[in-house]
Amino acid sequence: MSMPTPPSSPRIRAAGASLVVAIDGPAASGKSSTAQWVAQRLGFRHIDSGALYRAATAVALARAGDTFDETTVLSFVGELSLEPSRHTFAPMWNGESMEELIRAPEVTRLVSRVAQMRGVRAWVDANVRRAAEGRDVVVDGRDIGTVVFPDAHLKVFLIADPWERARRRLTQRHGRAPTDAEIAEETERLVQRDAKDATQTVQAKDAVLIDTTYLTQAEQVERIVSLARVFRDGGPEGLAPRS
Ligand code: CDP
Repeated sequence: MSMPTPPSSPRIRAAGASLVVAIDGPAASGKSSTAQWVAQRLGFRHIDSGALYRAATAVALARAGDTFDETTVLSFVGELSLEPSRHTFAPMWNGESMEELIRAPEVTRLVSRVAQMRGVRAWVDANVRRAAEGRDVVVDGRDIGTVVFPDAHLKVFLIADPWERARRRLTQRHGRAPTDAEIAEETERLVQRDAKDATQTVQAKDAVLIDTTYLTQAEQVERIVSLARVFRDGGPEGLAPRS
């Protein structure tokens, strides 16, 4: 399998400026886990923008049940913060970890609705940009390379066959190989979520497209790390060295 071609016009990092790697793609394309590995390998921080949409959904659901509107969601997001740990930023609710809460099936069912709310999108974008300020980051989501960081140094768009995405998601969730019937059901759910998220899931024109259907996680991480190193270490003539 050949290596992906680097973006045609790589952005040059200004001396001393922080570096942004944007990883976008549809549900369960492996963005978050890949972004986390890539960040660790490069010594960058990882920011998972989807976790913030999930956190806003979880807090609205807990406080108001599932009939909330945009005003209700926005009235609760002030209870949330994005806190740094060693390699990542995690959403916290009044100082408590939300790791389990944001992965609840009910949150996954409702999150696309919350992600359509313009005020919520503005809240997520502001938090992500603030977290990225002054540091090298790997940010994953749907619109990072188009809306949040249109000037990201490296943009990657991950895709994979829906059946394979469903199989991976179930294996991760249950820790065992799923049956074909389970995969078929999950594929349907994923395709429905793809449709609901379609407006904000946009591949930037200058993104490197990686189809991970036949790649292992280690292989996809390796590809992105090698592309990002060009920017981090200063590779080809003209790219600024790391300050
Ligand atoms: O991991 P998975 O792909 O299932 O989803 P996620 O990255 O945790 O994102 C959860 C939801 O947040 C998505 O289904 C989108 O509705 C929304 N999202 C978004 O609209 N824009 C982003 N930049 C990130 C997530």
